[in-house]
Amino acid sequence: MNIRFDNKVAIVTGAASGIGLGCAELLAASGAKVALVDFNSETLPKATKKVQEKGTAKCYQLDITDIPQIAPTVSRIRQELGEIDILVGSAGINIRQPAHEVTEAAWDTIMSVNTKGLFFCNQAVATQSMIPLRRGAIVNIASILGIVGGPSRIVYCASKGAVVQLTRAEAVDWAPYNIRINAVAPTFVLTNLTRELLKDPEAEKYVLSNTPFRRLATLDDVATAVCFLASDEASMITGTILPIDGGWTAK
Ligand SMILES: NC(=O)c1ccc[n+]([C@@H]2O[C@H](COP(=O)([O-])OP(=O)(O)OC[C@H]3O[C@@H](n4cnc5c(N)ncnc54)[C@H](O)[C@@H]3O)[C@@H](O)[C@H]2O)c1
Repeated sequence: MNIRFDNKVAIVTGAASGIGLGCAELLAASGAKVALVDFNSETLPKATKKVQEKGTAKCYQLDITDIPQIAPTVSRIRQELGEIDILVGSAGINIRQPAHEVTEAAWDTIMSVNTKGLFFCNQAVATQSMIPLRRGAIVNIASILGIVGGPSRIVYCASKGAVVQLTRAEAVDWAPYNIRINAVAPTFVLTNLTRELLKDPEAEKYVLSNTPFRRLATLDDVATAVCFLASDEASMITGTILPIDGGWTAK
């Protein structure tokens, strides 16, 4: 990838693993100073070391469902790394239950991370750095399951559908401040979130048979698209939901 982020500061939530870590690595390798945000105190230091091998990175432990702690964490990152140019909202979870078995606890847990926590991270970065400076790019990690339905995933689908819509609504509200907000909607990627599921041959068959390209997406597929949307190369693109799905949602 030829895109450079020299002198830019990027926050990545959910950066200790999977897609968030992949994005943090590519951003750092492309010159950004990267703040890795995650609530997992065991995996976060190791992930940060990995990113530091590629460039400049620092870790910040935060549970994004702890809304009052988001603003102070963003303000610490600004003091230590500088004003924030880029936010990638990748922290996310899933609990698989068919619609008729969904519990209130599962609903609240998924929504609090995937939708509420993601939104208040967007808001904190926008209000502290991007609105005052009249610049910035946010890329939210949605999912194809924010566009189409999937089995035993009603709450996840609802939470990602909300990410799709809050991305569009933020793009409208924050356009006057020259902030771009986009989302990517990946198909299945092999990460800690999907590893167990994809061991099941039936699940793998379900994914591959729904994907015209007949393969999973890779971390690189997602990180490259995220970096493009975060870059000045995408300066006229806002409010877009970019599927990275080998054609799943084109059918
Ligand atoms: N893997 C896939 O197939 C896939 C497909 C489409 C979208 N996504 C989305 O991509 C994002 C990343 O998922 P992944 O596959 O990399 O999973 P992952 O489990 O590998 O990584 C998620 C990271 O988020 C962190 N996290 C979870 N809850 C948090 C919280 N409350 N506060 C802070 N950090 C928290 C975890 O500690 C973990 O490091 C998620 O939003 C997921 O919904 C994943």
